Amino acid sequence: MTLDIEKIRAETPGVAHSTHLLAAGSALMPQCVVDAVINYTELEARIGGYEAEAAQDEVLSRVYDSVATHLGARRHEIALVPNATVAWCHAFYAMPLKAGDRILTCEAEYAANYVAMLQRAKRDGVIIDVIPSDAFGAVDLDALESMIDNRVALIAMTWVPTNGGLVNPAAEVGKIAKTHGIPYLLDACQAVGQMPVNVTDLGCDFLSATGRKFMRGPRGTGFLYVAEKWLKTLEPAMIDLFSAPWVSTDAYELRDDARRFETWENSYALRAGLGVAVDYATSLGMDAIQTRVKNLAELCRDGLSSIKGGQVRDIGSEQCGIVSFTIERMDADATVAALHKQGVVIGASTPFSTRLDAEARNLPTVMRMAPHYYNTEQEIERFFSVLNSLR
Ligand SMILES: Cc1ncc(COP(=O)(O)O)c(C=O)c1O
Repeated sequence: MTLDIEKIRAETPGVAHSTHLLAAGSALMPQCVVDAVINYTELEARIGGYEAEAAQDEVLSRVYDSVATHLGARRHEIALVPNATVAWCHAFYAMPLKAGDRILTCEAEYAANYVAMLQRAKRDGVIIDVIPSDAFGAVDLDALESMIDNRVALIAMTWVPTNGGLVNPAAEVGKIAKTHGIPYLLDACQAVGQMPVNVTDLGCDFLSATGRKFMRGPRGTGFLYVAEKWLKTLEPAMIDLFSAPWVSTDAYELRDDARRFETWENSYALRAGLGVAVDYATSLGMDAIQTRVKNLAELCRDGLSSIKGGQVRDIGSEQCGIVSFTIERMDADATVAALHKQGVVIGASTPFSTRLDAEARNLPTVMRMAPHYYNTEQEIERFFSVLNSLR
């Protein structure tokens, strides 16, 4: 399937206002997503919040089908949560880890995940072991194999790191995890919406993601996939009357689906928007999206490496739509601000968002751009022409 870029851009109001090249931050929503959120909110204003929820029950219920279909999962394996960190933490803190248990993670692990691991190291005595990277900067699969022993209780890996362009070999890690019967928690926050995601192919037990990045959903949305086999045993670290109804004076009963990781109160307007965003991506086709995103990112890398003093800071033999770079004598934050003033949106990523990788590679704050399929070659040219005018 090829993408009709003109139509897609006509459906994306934001493209008229800036050259937005930062889908890894928060991408531009299509109008249908904006409409879903506004219409739902207007309904709440008209008839009341609880009444709107009842009236839109079917629409809200379909969001689980949308997410499940997109991931190749089943609807009872999906929980809708406010962001990727909450999704990840729900799975992570539910894992019954004890002193001496080992968590294997990667060098490019995201800060929010790593600090949670540090907390459990402090609180529960678990050991964090970092899988070395291969020559290209991705998780070294042989090293992973060699690290496995009967104390490894979890593999927790970021598939697509927040900067660095890398795509970690998530499915290969899944195969190793499965062979050894080790639970596998995959951070797919930057992967969903820019590449096909199928939980069976990935072999993950848990997958966390956000709505606002490449998925083009509203801010404040996220989801968690929990493989069915865990729904019988995994007790959330935090429960409420929705996830675990109070069934008798002395007892609660956990829900038997992944929604045991939800709570009672939610933004249903945002959920409605998320459902539309996921359907929009699914209907365009993730293969076509991935191809275009990769091509546009390559165009950025080519241009950046030909700038005097420009250095693309990306790693991995397989790369994605996130492009990280530095330019000699150009401060990252100041350059991002100057570009922004001229209507070109990129971002900066500090070393402490991926501290292990940043320290290993001695990275400063890098500039980060992430074109999405709705961007054009002309917009990338514009980025370069504004950037050049700042040098
Ligand atoms: C790789 C990765 N994981 C997790 C997160 C956290 O996502 P959220 O802000 O939705 O919690 C981010 C955010 O940038 C990310 O890049």
